[in-house]
Amino acid sequence: MQSFYSKRRNLNQAISCVLGIETSCDETGIAIYDGERGLLAHSLHSQIALHNQYGGVVPELASRDHILKILPLLQETLKQAQLTLREVDGIAYCAGPGLAGALLVGAALGRSLGWTLKIPTLGVHHMEAHLLAPMLEENPPEFPFVALLVSGGHTLLARVDGLGRYEILGESVDDAAGEAFDKTAKLLGLAYPGGPAIAELAEKGNPKQFHFPRPMLDKPGLNFSFSGLKTSVNNTFKTADRNAQTKADIAHAFQAAIVETLMVKGQRALMQTGLKHLVVAGGVAANKSLRKELAAMAKKNAVTVYYPRQNFCTDNAAMIAYLGHQRLNLGQTDDLTIKTITRYPLDKLD
Ligand code: KG4
Ligand code: ZN
Repeated sequence: MQSFYSKRRNLNQAISCVLGIETSCDETGIAIYDGERGLLAHSLHSQIALHNQYGGVVPELASRDHILKILPLLQETLKQAQLTLREVDGIAYCAGPGLAGALLVGAALGRSLGWTLKIPTLGVHHMEAHLLAPMLEENPPEFPFVALLVSGGHTLLARVDGLGRYEILGESVDDAAGEAFDKTAKLLGLAYPGGPAIAELAEKGNPKQFHFPRPMLDKPGLNFSFSGLKTSVNNTFKTADRNAQTKADIAHAFQAAIVETLMVKGQRALMQTGLKHLVVAGGVAANKSLRKELAAMAKKNAVTVYYPRQNFCTDNAAMIAYLGHQRLNLGQTDDLTIKTITRYPLDKLD
């Protein structure tokens, strides 16, 4: 397998100001990160309203909307940062994993701008960017740490010893946690994306009404599986009285099953590695119930949990610009190819 990143540039000059571009799925994001001054500006356009009526992301509509929004967003972000394009000295765009057409929009813009401005340009890995998003916060985690990545497309636990040094400890053998939230929300007739909708409804649920299985908790190991839980929720919903309270009760029980599973596996990974720091990132890391359970677990085990700020849990370009800054300063840059890679394992990047 060809590696995701390669080294092509002599490191004769540090890169300080990096433009980040994110278009892997249904958010168009632009951000500017400066090595000395930190995050200078970030903008995001969410396509939620566009896809809502279809109950999920329609890839072709996503690509078209990225095309419409990306240039105005670039101008807005430069204005926010009070910079011109000429002051940017590196470009990072999300090269994957993600939707092929959506990725191409950001990749084409990033690569073309890099060529026009004659500055180093790098396609970066979306999940690696999620993983390092807490580095943008005031008290960033120090290596080594355990990372629990919970997004719409991935659920995994990794040991992180440094930039690019990732050992996968466990991952989902079927649906990702966010995907399970989205599918359950669809079943219950809730709006897309399902995570926030389920979380909101769950608050009205009676915790004693239903109990769903905690997938793979009875087995050793750190893999996840959420398809059995999905079947269980489906069967319950089929036979239940479909009133508003029942839906809230199901949402509550479903969220509790996912949250407990993530918490127990996270705790197991910490014990197995002997590490004391846990980073939780990706869209599901925004879930309040998950944060509460993890806080209790952290207190009990004297460990520290790190998150990105709420709006950097879900897709954004700040994490792309930050990761680009780190890697461009290692001398990593791409040739003139517009790079998009729809799938690529996190532990084989370099
Ligand atoms: O990281 P992300 O924005 O995109 C991917 O890389 O997949 O994650 C999106 C996922 C969606 O499945 C969404 O339902 C879920 O994150 N999500 C949540 C919450 N906010 C977003 N899941 C549970 N609770 C939330 N508050
Ligand atoms: Zn993501």
